[in-house]
Amino acid sequence: MANPSIHDGLRIFIEHLVCVTPPALFRRNSIPPATRSRRIFTRLTVSAHIFSETTDTVTYGGGDGNRLITRLLKKGRINSAMGRLGLGLAVGCAVASCAIAAVMVGRRVRSRRRWWKVVRAFEEFEEAASTPVGRLRQVVDAMAVEMHAGLASEGGSKLKMLLTFVDKLPDGSESGIYYALHVGGTDFRILRIQLGGQRSILGHDVERKPIPQDLMTTTSEEFFDFLALSLKDFVERKGNNLQLTQVRGKDLGFTFSFPVKQTSVSSGTLIKWTKGFAIDDMVEQDVVECLQKALSRTGLDMNVAALVNDSVGTLAVGHFYDKDTVVAVVIGTGTNACYLERADAVIKCQGLLTASGGMVINMEWGNFWSSHLPRTSYDIDLDAESQNPNDQGFEKMISGMYLGDIVRRVICKMFLVSDIFGPFSSKLSTRFVLSTPLMAAMHEDNSPDLSEVAKILEDTLDIYDAPLKLRKLVVKVCDVVTRRAARLAAAGIVGILKKIGRDGTGGITSGRVKGVKGDKLRRTVVAVEGGLYTSYTIFREYLNEAVAEILGDEIAPYVILKVMEDGSGIGAAMLAASHSARNVDTVQVL
Ligand code: BGC
Repeated sequence: MANPSIHDGLRIFIEHLVCVTPPALFRRNSIPPATRSRRIFTRLTVSAHIFSETTDTVTYGGGDGNRLITRLLKKGRINSAMGRLGLGLAVGCAVASCAIAAVMVGRRVRSRRRWWKVVRAFEEFEEAASTPVGRLRQVVDAMAVEMHAGLASEGGSKLKMLLTFVDKLPDGSESGIYYALHVGGTDFRILRIQLGGQRSILGHDVERKPIPQDLMTTTSEEFFDFLALSLKDFVERKGNNLQLTQVRGKDLGFTFSFPVKQTSVSSGTLIKWTKGFAIDDMVEQDVVECLQKALSRTGLDMNVAALVNDSVGTLAVGHFYDKDTVVAVVIGTGTNACYLERADAVIKCQGLLTASGGMVINMEWGNFWSSHLPRTSYDIDLDAESQNPNDQGFEKMISGMYLGDIVRRVICKMFLVSDIFGPFSSKLSTRFVLSTPLMAAMHEDNSPDLSEVAKILEDTLDIYDAPLKLRKLVVKVCDVVTRRAARLAAAGIVGILKKIGRDGTGGITSGRVKGVKGDKLRRTVVAVEGGLYTSYTIFREYLNEAVAEILGDEIAPYVILKVMEDGSGIGAAMLAASHSARNVDTVQVL
């Protein structure tokens, strides 16, 4: 049984301790834990010391303490009481320190545990989304195999490998004024270019208009009327005083960035919508016919001379400037690729004859699928909740429409596994609330305290006062998502190079030309368009780096990736130029 005076001494001691200890010492996070424990211990020792040295003069916060001391002094028992008190204080110090330490350690352990759950959720995602070069090579092979399958038979692969009826790409000799319309992403573009021959563009006007959300799900008539009226308005404003009559019969290139089954270079039916468009009465309709009718309704007498996919437009403009351009890739809201194939390799279309012996193939690679793709639970959920489940699997891992949403899903999971960051915000479960441009802005935030990340988390996801460690983790999530997308696109590109024998391994065509000193590798240019590649530096660097990594040091210098700003629209105008100039049909399907 403890001596009563020791109890009293302990109480006095603790009262003193509480009086003299700054409250900050008891608060979590105000001071680093090691420093806090040290300071608390020092306070305990000092309190004990003050008590034993100045018992007769100190003024404690509690009246009981004073009364006890006065009583002890009066009774002349201070000296013996002091001995017991000293012992009591020592025990008290130890007990109090242990209690405080236990509380602190407990809190810390709980908080660590909750944080580790968050980190584990991230690490599991990182692991599932990893793209080591070995896996990329498997994707390369799968892409090449699927290309063969898609060319061999209709429906032979998820890759549609569509004929474009573009057998010859612009070579720079085109001249005259041409217009183009480009529909396909978040905005719609109208262009007017003046080609001057000798690979020159003398004039170039572009107007961008966002496509109103409701038009993406309206009727085909309303949709095409919107396009035709916008074009008419543009012609009137930019026509340098040309009357509408003076554009009569002018050729127009139409970039329509959706899967279309072409029946000629200027006709084709829509196979399906992608990227959030859903105008049901358009499916299986002839796209050019719809536009041509809308142009007549608005009184614009123009002729759609070329219907092209945006990847084909990009290839055309790439080839206009550099004849070694044989592949084009678009990585924007959606993603796709096309390339120049030998006509006789298109087995599913026996009897395809072209004057050049070649044909541009629109791969529609957004729909590529392979079990080697690093698919995570977030991709599965995104797909299941999308407008087009089981479709466009590659696109959903790569393109601008989806990357921000994958990041949102991972952040959402991190909040669900732990309450460490405060209450769950309903915005976290709102699809597409975090757009890819916002994700890129967080990823590229260079400020030391990641203030841009904090702002975006607050403004778009209602996550307030996110601690720095969470902001850092969010940047890592953006990095994993972006890196995977860029590296998969790189693998896709090398897959095409492999199919056409330009990856140095000797595909269908060897990719080598006879030089004076034997075989020499051929220069291959890949034209790339789309905001992810042209405006998102980290994405571009990851993609370029992965192409070089997969190809290796010997081949990589021969493969050049070139940015084509606005390539798809300009390319459509160029194709309108080259196809209107040649009145002879150069493609025949026997
Ligand atoms: C479409 C392609 C298009 C690509 C890039 C995809 O969703 O299916 O036709 O080329 O997006 O815009």
